[in-house]
Amino acid sequence: MVRMIDLYSQYLGIKEEIDRAIDTTITTSDFIGGNAVVEFERALSSFLNVEHIITCGNGSDALLLSLMAIGLKKGDEVIVPAFAFASVVEAVALLGGVPVFANVNHSTFAIDPASIERMVTKRTKAIVPVHLFGQPCDMKQIKDIAETYDVVVIEDNAQSLGAKCRLSSECEVYAGTIGHIGYTSFFPTKMLGCFGDGGAVFTNDNVLADRIRAIANHGQHRKYHHEYIGINSRLDTLQAAILKAKLPHLPDWIESRQKAARYYSAALKNIEQLILPLEVPHGTHVYNQYTIRMPISLRDGLKTELTSKGIQSMIYYPTPLFNQPAYRNICVIDPMMSDCETLCRQVLSLPMHSELSHNGQDKVIDTIQTYITRMS
Ligand SMILES: Cc1ncc(COP(=O)(O)O)c(C=O)c1O
Repeated sequence: MVRMIDLYSQYLGIKEEIDRAIDTTITTSDFIGGNAVVEFERALSSFLNVEHIITCGNGSDALLLSLMAIGLKKGDEVIVPAFAFASVVEAVALLGGVPVFANVNHSTFAIDPASIERMVTKRTKAIVPVHLFGQPCDMKQIKDIAETYDVVVIEDNAQSLGAKCRLSSECEVYAGTIGHIGYTSFFPTKMLGCFGDGGAVFTNDNVLADRIRAIANHGQHRKYHHEYIGINSRLDTLQAAILKAKLPHLPDWIESRQKAARYYSAALKNIEQLILPLEVPHGTHVYNQYTIRMPISLRDGLKTELTSKGIQSMIYYPTPLFNQPAYRNICVIDPMMSDCETLCRQVLSLPMHSELSHNGQDKVIDTIQTYITRMS
């Protein structure tokens, strides 16, 4: 079996460190708000070079907290990409906001800055660029647009923790640390995954940080003094302890994923029916996903063929968000939207993780080559 991701092998590689972290948490039994939470927040803050890290229950909550903290109200518009995970629009809709779907570039899967600019109105409160599959959006352009129209930028970095954005020839910073707020998810399959759900918000803004921390804790700074309408969203001590043990390994895991991506690309580049991931000059790709495109007529058959050979693959995402029943009647769509339905029918994500062996990749490559030769 060639898995999309092999969490157990990753665990075995650092078993002692993880087991120690779990043992210590059980021994201290401070399961909520224990030392490991503060220590992990400090470690991530220093890794990302960002002032404040506020951990929370998951990546979806991280956006909800961020939108609550900027005071999103009923009728406020939030510009989001049409091709992304649903949580990006969920939080907007939950708060009575209007999701405004911007176009995406089919080669990079990133939100298109020109579409953002077309869709800004007086009601636009925020833009949520999603650094999809491991590669940052063009944050220089997005930041310039946000400054021009005075809107908040909240970066979704759920899939790209550790990716870098080049803002100029001298300035390279981590994705997620450029907007007013950034956030990530520690869902097990993410770049830095815990053993359950987890998330974090990043910001350099003291006021926003203070508010987000309070909102995540029932709107209180002091116990039983509820300054804001809040929610309960926290990272368990156990998850924080695990993440603290895993964080130092993130750069190596990124390198392994990048090597695996190069291996795929070298082997698949001559198959003319395939479009391989495009690496942009304004950032580094950390390959949370290795996502290829191909003619619609080949995609589902290839997926079936891979499955029959014991190879997992995934379709991220089968439907544009504006076509989802929950959102299609409450959203605004860029009138110049490209054909996202076609994009959704072309994409296929191949097994990708830090423990992926050449042997496993060769099976994937051979299956793809054989299938495409047979079909042409
Ligand atoms: C791009 C993106 N944003 C947000 C999320 C939400 O994160 P979580 O599952 O931790 O709520 C995900 C998770 O899959 C995601 O892929």
